[in-house]
Amino acid sequence: MEDSAFRSEAFGDIYFMPKEGEAESRYVFWEGNQLTHRLIQPEKETFQIAELGFGTGLNYFLTRALWREIPNPPNIHYVSIEKFPIPIGMVNRMQLEIQSVPTWEEELIKVYLPYLGKPSQKEIQLLSYQTDHPSSHHRFTLSLYLGDVISALAQVGGPIDAFYLDGFAPSKNPEMWSPSVFSELKRLSLAGTTFSTFTAAGFVKRGLEKEGFFVRKQKGFGRKREMLVGTFHG
Ligand SMILES: C[S@@+](CC[C@H](N)C(=O)[O-])C[C@H]1O[C@@H](n2cnc3c(N)ncnc32)[C@H](O)[C@@H]1O
Repeated sequence: MEDSAFRSEAFGDIYFMPKEGEAESRYVFWEGNQLTHRLIQPEKETFQIAELGFGTGLNYFLTRALWREIPNPPNIHYVSIEKFPIPIGMVNRMQLEIQSVPTWEEELIKVYLPYLGKPSQKEIQLLSYQTDHPSSHHRFTLSLYLGDVISALAQVGGPIDAFYLDGFAPSKNPEMWSPSVFSELKRLSLAGTTFSTFTAAGFVKRGLEKEGFFVRKQKGFGRKREMLVGTFHG
């Protein structure tokens, strides 16, 4: 079963499982941040999402598709960070296997192509890409920072409304779950900023609590027992 996963050999972990991956992303990141409600009744012109780990782009494509279904949503600024862009073969596989939403359109591939399959350099690269909403004048802007999570986060401007914390498993990818990352999340948050993540690791919970988030464990996706969601209180 695991053989069909979108997998990272370098990290010994998976990006997602085909079939389950789409439902899991919606459950963990969309519902975990109560996005339907917040985008149907927007309190601001532009809603900012920040994702740690762009990976295959699945979360981005699903979020963009859900936003397109809302009649008059705010603009979305979707900030994402990635140090190890996926290879072109994985982009092609996404196009073949993900049928529920549009994924890698040609214009987006053109923007990302020079970086695909190559680990990022020390200097952060910022890629930008926009999509129009079908029935309003609003836009969905992707700002993709290529580089290490800490240096990239330092360049991001807040406030962020919702964080998608989506590094690989904390045991395999500690850099994505470090105290320095948590302190950057605090810098980028305002009262009411939310986060969600698939992990329920104790040190992640404590690290986020220390930086001013109320953190709650809730039922994880499918057979996963628990995950974390939370809100910043300052
Ligand atoms: C679970 S995957 C993200 C999945 C992604 N959100 C998606 O929708 O496909 C975790 C990502 O974090 C990236 N990553 C790991 N360590 C990193 C670091 N130190 N800085 C930036 N990105 C990192 C990995 O390359 C990988 O793409």
